[in-house]
Amino acid sequence: MQKINVLFVCLGNICRSPTAHGVFQQLVDDSGLTDYFDIDSAGTSGWHIGKKPDSRTMVAAKKRGYDLSGLRGRQVDVDDFEKYDYILAMDESNLQDLQALQPSHYSGVLTLFLNYFPESSHNEVPDPYYGGDKGFDMVLDLVEAASQGLLTTIRNEKNL
Ligand code: 4NP
Repeated sequence: MQKINVLFVCLGNICRSPTAHGVFQQLVDDSGLTDYFDIDSAGTSGWHIGKKPDSRTMVAAKKRGYDLSGLRGRQVDVDDFEKYDYILAMDESNLQDLQALQPSHYSGVLTLFLNYFPESSHNEVPDPYYGGDKGFDMVLDLVEAASQGLLTTIRNEKNL
């Protein structure tokens, strides 16, 4: 079966994109659609390659029932554009970096993740790395809502 390939991208791949990866995977699993999707996350930087998500990210996610401990950081690569149908950037800076890497023949969707949560007053998922615990809950709030919107959009597009 042809899978629907979804990649979430932030700067470090230890806070926002692993959260989106875990939350969207859980939503897909809970919807009985596991076999239809291949989901991953990556960072525009190579700063945290091979590392677990930030411990504050894992604690905040665990409180809502998401286990991110199996995820490891990696850097986005030009080859990701050959595989992924949806590449979702957490902020404008990530999007600009991805647009600079994007091959001209890319025919998938490269956009801000929060486009799938149009009711939000945010268009970017704020980077929580240098802030307090509230920032990590805010990431989860935004990511949970955008994940619902993304899955609804994909189900409509693919008749799932
Ligand atoms: P992320 O957050 O892009 O959501 O993973 C960050 C993680 C690490 C750094 C910055 C942002 N850093 O400067 O190392």
